[in-house]
Amino acid sequence: MTENQPQAPITSMDGWRDQWMAARQNPDAFWLARTRELIQWRTEPTQGLHGDFSTIKDGPLTWFADGKLNITESCLDRHAAATPDKTAILWEGDEPGDVQHISFAQLLEKVCRLADALGKLGIQKGDRVIIYMGMVPEAAVAMLACARIGAIHSVVFGGFSAEALRDRVRDCGAEVVITQNVGRRGGRNIPLKAVTDEALEGERGVKGVIVFKRTDDETPMVEGRDHWWHDVCANASPNTPATECDAEDALFILYTSGSTGKPKGVVHTCGGYITYATYTHKTVFGIQPDDVYACVADVGWITGHSYIVYGPLSNGVTTLMFESTPMYPDAGRYWDMVQRHKINVFYTAPTAIRAIAAHGDDFVTKYDRSTLRVLGTVGEPINPEAWQWYHDSPGEGRCAVVDTWWQTETGGICITPIAGATPTKPGSATLPMPGINPVLMQADGSGKVMWGPGEGHLCIEYPWPGQARTVWNDHPRFVATYFQTYPNYYFTGDGCKRDDDGYHWITGRVDDVLNVSGHRMGTAEFESALLIRDEVAEAAVVGYPHPIKGQGVYAYIVLQPGQEATDELPKLLQQEVRTNIGVVAKVDKFQFIPGLPKTRSGKVMRRILRKIAEGQPDAIGDTSTLADPSVVETIKAGYQG
Ligand code: WT7
Repeated sequence: MTENQPQAPITSMDGWRDQWMAARQNPDAFWLARTRELIQWRTEPTQGLHGDFSTIKDGPLTWFADGKLNITESCLDRHAAATPDKTAILWEGDEPGDVQHISFAQLLEKVCRLADALGKLGIQKGDRVIIYMGMVPEAAVAMLACARIGAIHSVVFGGFSAEALRDRVRDCGAEVVITQNVGRRGGRNIPLKAVTDEALEGERGVKGVIVFKRTDDETPMVEGRDHWWHDVCANASPNTPATECDAEDALFILYTSGSTGKPKGVVHTCGGYITYATYTHKTVFGIQPDDVYACVADVGWITGHSYIVYGPLSNGVTTLMFESTPMYPDAGRYWDMVQRHKINVFYTAPTAIRAIAAHGDDFVTKYDRSTLRVLGTVGEPINPEAWQWYHDSPGEGRCAVVDTWWQTETGGICITPIAGATPTKPGSATLPMPGINPVLMQADGSGKVMWGPGEGHLCIEYPWPGQARTVWNDHPRFVATYFQTYPNYYFTGDGCKRDDDGYHWITGRVDDVLNVSGHRMGTAEFESALLIRDEVAEAAVVGYPHPIKGQGVYAYIVLQPGQEATDELPKLLQQEVRTNIGVVAKVDKFQFIPGLPKTRSGKVMRRILRKIAEGQPDAIGDTSTLADPSVVETIKAGYQG
């Protein structure tokens, strides 16, 4: 096979094994061939990987370093030339049937206009733009318009608070914020512009705010700072040229939670990211040119970046954007959309599957799902019961189900079945993508690699093009977070079992990161919000299994001397969490305790708190190193079951 011959799709386990081995034996040749076949370069790269996990402390590794491109030419121009009238974005608004079809030609024009408008506001290559929007096509337009002129976007999920938005604006030094007057979700307004105003009060670095008008609601505008989207775009060029970028220029920053401190600005770069998003999207879902592809995530998360916007558009298929929720107006909404839009590939989160399964099969069977071919899940471990229901009921037992494991930091799917090729097991993410070499480390801290079946900490052994390059403005934090626990390996933060067939079963986070309804949040973020209130002396937050959300949030609170746990207090504490993080952050249970279980050296034994919150007080294990073991009995007795 010559280098530039397109790779055949993977349709069998032999096909998977061939590609996986090819990528393992010669990663540079494998990825150079993939990027040349899938991506529109201005100057094709001749270089593969430079650097590796052992040199990462000296600076980011690079892929395709001598290549030049603008990723919007892969996502827009080439399709606008070949298939101008094909629907690029199929938008389904909050109200069922409120639909828009935006063709590749129209999308390119919208992107060009906003790109020009951004330029006129002074945005140049390398400048940062925050996007704080709901699920409207304009959110994708905003991302692509930034990319068009080489600006770096950072999308902030619309469920985050003004505080959280301000933190991100400051951290990345954004000069423009793009928002909308209000968002719509589940029949309700989301005050996006009002929250933006609150976040930007006194922020002198932001010189412009562009406001998309989603509804006719009254919208106060700040003179000299705020501009209506329709005004700035009306006076802008419909064919703004794409700015040539280096493969390793930053494409976007996305903030994500870790076990300590404030969320990190994970940085993805142009060439490697677009290659990996395009390749994995095409390969995992077996994408066909005429597919109607629907990922019902939000662009505020990495899933929305890679698998609503960049991957599908680069592959030239119709991608759905969904503004509403799986429950609005009722639990049949997904399948109603599948029938109306003749969706072929559908991608959602386990929490949504569990929520709709609880409403029974009638909401599913009343709609025609015969167009469906592939059903995907992402975001959290899927329990076998939910997997089976997804497969049997919406999927009529004939669709491929792909449980895709990956992370904000990995840029794209890493461990997954390949639709139509990999035999599945309910609850298992199965096998690695070509180019991904997963390794399990013994969880005992010995740092030893485990061979064969077993359970350990999931690491990845070798770089791949889609991985994050650094943390914005803080490369040492990037190195410390991902490459220090297991030197020379990328540490994912997840636990994983490997069975006799070499299949992977992700068991969840092994660090202090929560996953609530597929939303990633740090226990430390909850704790610092709770500590803001004067009543609170100490706080410890842990997760516990929740039947729908995957994990619930359990907060242990130690009050200041003289303070009392009034009936009001939990409400006030919850309000503080909401103010600091956003509506996505909710404490499910509060327990007021006299003291935290600490070792004699003052370290909180979170393991004990976790076991009690999980309702397994008998599995606590050894407590002899505690300064005051009696506190455990008190905490057990006050368990909020
Ligand atoms: C964490 C990453 C990847 C896009 C959405 C989440 C968990 C993700 C799976 C899966 C088990 C999963 C992991 C991971 N996770 N997918 N298929 N099976 N767990 O991205 O917010 O960066 O969160 O989500 O714990 O570390 P994220």
